[in-house]
Amino acid sequence: MALPAGPPNRLLNTYRILAEPLRHMPRWIQRYGDPFLLKTVNGDVVMTAKPELVKQIFAGNPLKFEPFGVKAIAPLVGAGSVFTLTGQRHLRERKLLMPPFHGRRMRDYGDHMAEVTRSATRSLDGDRLCIQDLGQRISLEVIVRTVFGVTEAERVGQYCRAVGEVVSRVHPAFLFMPFLQREFAGLGPFAKFQRTDRHFDGLLDDQIARTRQRGEGADILSLLLSARYEDDSPMSDEDIKSELRTLLVAGHETTAIAIAWAIDLLHRAPHKLSKVLEELSSFGSEPTPAELESAPYLEAVCKEALRLFPVVTEVMRTLNDDFELGGRTIPAGASLSASMLMLHRRPDLYDDPDRFEPERFIDARLAPHEFAPFGGGHRRCIGAAFALFEMKVVLGTLLSTHSFFLDSTAANSPVRRNVTIAPKDGVPVLVKRRRP
Ligand code: HEM
Repeated sequence: MALPAGPPNRLLNTYRILAEPLRHMPRWIQRYGDPFLLKTVNGDVVMTAKPELVKQIFAGNPLKFEPFGVKAIAPLVGAGSVFTLTGQRHLRERKLLMPPFHGRRMRDYGDHMAEVTRSATRSLDGDRLCIQDLGQRISLEVIVRTVFGVTEAERVGQYCRAVGEVVSRVHPAFLFMPFLQREFAGLGPFAKFQRTDRHFDGLLDDQIARTRQRGEGADILSLLLSARYEDDSPMSDEDIKSELRTLLVAGHETTAIAIAWAIDLLHRAPHKLSKVLEELSSFGSEPTPAELESAPYLEAVCKEALRLFPVVTEVMRTLNDDFELGGRTIPAGASLSASMLMLHRRPDLYDDPDRFEPERFIDARLAPHEFAPFGGGHRRCIGAAFALFEMKVVLGTLLSTHSFFLDSTAANSPVRRNVTIAPKDGVPVLVKRRRP
């Protein structure tokens, strides 16, 4: 049993992988080889960007893996979340969560996605804003409407505000130091978080009660209420609330960041922008979600943005048993990390890998362990089809109705936001309405 070599300083490694992964990952691979060992303050992580090793990780026995470092988000998502569940319970829960996200169902959600985008941008003309903020407002409202099933404008606003308040009360101190998850006579940051969170929890209870009363609809909450485990039992309300929170946390900021990267990259490559605008022009000023879904160049732009900046940069698993990786036995207790950031920039998979070149995805035949912005195996993103569809509908709608002018022509550097990498300034732009 032998762990590979790697940089020795735990504290410095943790700082470097969090602060500047694109700078340090290539250096480490060059110096120590692939895989290499990254000692971090959260334990020993064997990192790889080799397709054949990524494949082994994705194909590994789910029962040998625990999720990595998820305790931190437990206060946000609750105990019954696919994020935090392990082993058979995780697999059982995924079986119930996946059918509502099946590709076919996306069509039901497309109209919401387009309408939310249009109403968020209708009055914009000559305004300055950050694409990531705009994307976040849109993706939050999309989740409130399609996942929670809230449709009345006033209540949608109430749910979006409640989420904003909860998010504003989240403090890294109690997330990363769980012993601070105590009320301290109602004065500490955790107590303040809990107060806003209880309000949000009440709203979820209310929506569950209304959905039961109304009967089945197309929204994901309603599908979860009618879903049954193999023994024919339903999900408990607590578990449903946990999964609604999970979908919100997993699907809201990630999609907004991906859209921000796509706008940023497109507007630094005028030829690619013209190409996508030409494709969109055949649909008129109000393209339908079905038209946007089947626009090949738009899809290639979204995939290329996810390739260069895969939002979630590493897919991590902690071992509860020894694991064979590339002929080496990695001991239980260590973690494995498939680095999407480095995998997606391999010159043997992608020509001129640092270049924004959507054309490479037209008729591309890439294996799931060669292009993996949504991870892989038993924890692959449940919302992958939803997210890619939303990217296409939101991006296509934005570009059809508005022109965007970047505030800065300098390359936008990635910064770490928890497990994601986002454009440093959220992509500040001047927005102008397109004239017919
Ligand atoms: C561009 C947007 C998104 C990206 C890049 C993304 C990426 C990922 C990645 C890399 C994982 C971990 C996969 C693994 O460990 O193998 C993940 C997990 C997950 N994602 Fe996404 N995601 C996105 C949007 C969404 C959306 C919109 C939803 C739902 C509304 C969603 C729901 C989930 C869930 C529930 C998990 C946990 C799955 C599990 O642990 O079994 N994601 N996502």
